[in-house]
This record gives sequence, structure tokens and C-alpha cells, in this order.
Amino acid sequence: MSNPSLLILPGDGIGPEVMAEVVKIIDWYGAKRDMPFDVSEDLVGGAAYDAHGTPLHDDTMARAQEVDAVLLGAVGGPAYDNLDFSLKPERGLLRLRKEMDLFANLRPAQCFDALADFSSLKRDVVAGLDIMIVRELTSGVYFGEPRGIFEEGNERVGINTQRYTESEIDRVARAAFELARRRGNKVCSMEKANVMESGILWREVVQKVHDADYADVELTHMYADAGAMQLTRWPKQFDVIVTDNLFGDILSDLAAMLTGSLGMLPSASLGAPMANGRPKALYEPVHGSAPDIAGQGKANPIACILSFAMALRYSFDAGDEATRLEKAVEKVLADGLRTADLLGDEGVQPVSTSEMGDAVIAALDASL
Ligand code: NAD
Ligand code: IPM
Ligand code: MN
Repeated sequence: MSNPSLLILPGDGIGPEVMAEVVKIIDWYGAKRDMPFDVSEDLVGGAAYDAHGTPLHDDTMARAQEVDAVLLGAVGGPAYDNLDFSLKPERGLLRLRKEMDLFANLRPAQCFDALADFSSLKRDVVAGLDIMIVRELTSGVYFGEPRGIFEEGNERVGINTQRYTESEIDRVARAAFELARRRGNKVCSMEKANVMESGILWREVVQKVHDADYADVELTHMYADAGAMQLTRWPKQFDVIVTDNLFGDILSDLAAMLTGSLGMLPSASLGAPMANGRPKALYEPVHGSAPDIAGQGKANPIACILSFAMALRYSFDAGDEATRLEKAVEKVLADGLRTADLLGDEGVQPVSTSEMGDAVIAALDASL
């Protein structure tokens, strides 16, 4: 049997810097755990635009459809701010998500004990936090038609459309309920059914899926604005949160800060199972290309490393190895290693991106 295949798309800014650390870890699994991967690498975002004049080449798109999993760093940057909308780096990522039909974006926010003092919230509020945001990723206002900037009378109007079909809501709700059964068995669905028809439908469909097939899971509904408030007030009340594309984008950045830094939050974007039973999948950190620190060796690679741990769990049936990697990260943090984004006021010297990656490798070695 051939090795599982990975397509690596480092992208822009700190994307290549954090991905270099993940490549070390992939190599470690090949050498030390007898888990070799067939790895290929390609361009996405601004890097693809620079080389090909498009943020995602058709050949790269085709390759992404064939592999067992895609790993992506980050896209975007100020150099591309003035490009035509269709050529912007972010369009490359959105095309991957849409064409691979990666409708369920899992964004876990876990607060490692060693970092409980790094959150902007009090230790009690975040210590031991373990929540999972399931963000719908292929529809909603990100993709709804009509969209565009149009002339209207003597001025312009910018239009985006929030649109959800019942089947789109149904499938992401099922993903959330399935996850909840393997965790704390609770789902909170967030929308704005008080002001949006799409929110009314969202609430109805999630409730219907629950009553028909997941009545054993505790389901609550919350308006997304109140949800943001509750996430900062007492986040441990949540287990799984299921929400739409835009609310999920915003709430997951908020949740990132509960864990200490945006540089900590991984994600898995999953679609329907392929012929081999594995879900179509793309793994990427929640953070972006961080132009303010790019090229300085300051980026925290943990979000990207933990995204590979999610790949081990969700694409390669290697939950034990995913846990090994997560424990290695936990140990490194417990030992006091900190990239610059995690520094409090205790006068600790920060480590570089590659020093953090090397420390995780050393912790993996120690786990054998
Ligand atoms: P960002 O996530 O890139 O950065 C926000 C802040 O967090 C910055 O101060 C940055 O230095 C810090 N930060 C982010 N990741 C970090 C890490 N790993 N280690 C240490 N610090 C980290 O968001 P932004 O500044 O709003 O966006 C910059 C660019 O990235 C934009 O072009 C945006 O569209 C793009 N973006 C891409 C993705 C993605 O590729 N998935 C996600 C978000 C933003
Ligand atoms: C994310 C990012 C993306 C999004 C952008 C870069 C397209 O913010 O992955 O969270 O808005 O989905
Ligand atoms: Mn985002």
C-alpha cells in the first residue's frame, strides 16, 4: 500500500516559517514512528500570485482534490492589498474550501495549564478550557449571491448575501452533534434568529436534526452576540458551538485569546468522506500571515503544529499519535518555553519559531 499523501501549502508571511516546523515533525513521524507520508509542496495565496498571476493554480487545486490531506500555513499580506478582488491571496484559500466542499471547520480552543495566565481573562475563567467551535465553511455570507459593488443612482452599493439551504445547515449540525457525543455531549447553536430569516431556518433545522437523530445530546440555542458575551464571561459553560461562516470566523478569533494567543489555535476543515473513507480535509492554523512579525523568526508555530495533530486524528486514524504530539506541546509549554506572543511580564527570554519546533521534537523523542 502506498503511503498517505500530504500536500503542503505554506503560503505567505509567517506561513512558510511555521510550516517549516511542521515539516520537521512530519519527518519525525516517518523516522521514529514508521509513519512515512508522501509529501508534496506547492504555492497558494500571494506566493502563487507572484509565480502564476493567480492565488491558486488549477494544477494545485487538482492536486488538493487527490491527496489524503492538505496542510496550509497562511495567506495574505499588504503587498497584495491593491490587487483586483478576484486575485487576492484570500481567494485562493476560499477556492480550496469551496471546491473541496469542506463544510465543517473544527476550531478547538483549549487552554493549556501553563498558559492560563497569558489570557487577557482571569485564570479561573480559562484554566482547563476545552471547547470546540464548529464553523460552517462553504456557504453563508462568504459565498451567497448576489454579491459585488454596484452603481445605484449616483453612488455605489456593496452587497453580500447571507444564504443557507436546509441541507447545508443539516450537514454541519450533524458534524457538531457527532463531535459532541465524543466529548461533553453538549451543543450550543449560535445565530441571530431574532433579526435574520437565515437564522430562523438555522435554528429550526438544528433543532430538527437534534430531535430526530441526536436527542441524547444536550442542545441549546443562543443569539451570536450574546454568545460572544458568554464566551468571555464564562467560556467553560460551552462544549461544542455550531455556527455559521461569519459568526464562526469572529467567535473563533475571540476564543483564540482565551487560550493565550492566536498563535495557539489549530483547525481542521472537513468535507464528505472520499472513496477511501477518509474525509476530504485541509488543516490550517486559525491565524493569518501576521505581516507585522513575518521574516523575524518570532512566529509561534504551535497552531500549525497542532493542526498537524488534528490531521493525525481526523485523516489518518492516529488519535494516539495526535495525543502524543499534543502532550509534547503541553510539556514544552510547561517547561517554560515561550515565543514572543506568549510573554507576560515575568522577564522570560522568548524562543524563536525554530527553537520552539526543535523543543517539540525533543519532547516527542522523550515520549518514546
Ligand atoms: P493575523 O492573524 O495575521 O495577525 C493578527 C495578530 O496576531 C498580529 O499581531 C500577529 O502578529 C499575531 N499573530 C498571528 N499569528 C501569530 C503567530 N503564529 N505567532 C505570533 N503572533 C501571531 O491577522 P491580520 O493581521 O488580521 O491579517 C493579516 C493577513 O492574514 C491578512 O491578509 C488576512 O487576510 C490574512 N489572514 C489569513 C488567514 C489564513 O490564511 N487562514 C487567516 C486570517 C487572516
Ligand atoms: C480565517 C480567515 C479567512 C476567513 C480569510 C483569510 C479568508 O480569517 O481562516 O479565519 O475569513 O475565513
Ligand atoms: Mn479569521
